[in-house]
Amino acid sequence: MSVEQELIERALECAADDDPELNNLVYRNFYETMADAGQLMSHVDEGVRGKMMAEIYRLLLAEDVAASDGDYLVFETKTHANSYFVLPEMYNVLSDVFLQTLRLSAARVWSPAVEAAISRRLNALTTAIDSALIKNGCATALGNNID
Ligand code: HEM
Repeated sequence: MSVEQELIERALECAADDDPELNNLVYRNFYETMADAGQLMSHVDEGVRGKMMAEIYRLLLAEDVAASDGDYLVFETKTHANSYFVLPEMYNVLSDVFLQTLRLSAARVWSPAVEAAISRRLNALTTAIDSALIKNGCATALGNNID
């Protein structure tokens, strides 16, 4: 396992052990930072919110997310745009808020190396999401059916 992967796993495990409120805090901070996102998620129950966070953790743990989950991200960002009215800029805000929240919840093991590893991984995820959004946009512009 790479050092980066080890650091990421240790930070996520620490946050899960030390802070049972981690997921709730991520959402609370997200809604406080971006009221429009809170509005979009106001009807969403705890089960679906949990499912969304579980997917975010899974994607964060992928060593090459663009390769392993590029197609999944095209599907998910298309559903998020068409059915949930999620705007492209909301993904970056969620990513920033996630880092800020995790930093406190995993304070026991946090270090500059952990910060760098998590930041790199979040950047890889937001870059893969941007590519997925561009692919969806291209399909729409070409008049393709993206259902
Ligand atoms: C990496 C980023 C994200 C991932 C992997 C993700 C994943 C998911 C998953 C798995 C679900 C459960 C239903 C489904 O499969 O579609 C979900 C639901 C939802 N997500 Fe996300 N999500 C992400 C980012 C966002 C962002 C930035 C927003 C902005 C507000 C958002 C808003 C929603 C809403 C409103 C629902 C509930 C849909 C409903 O059941 O009505 N998501 N998300």
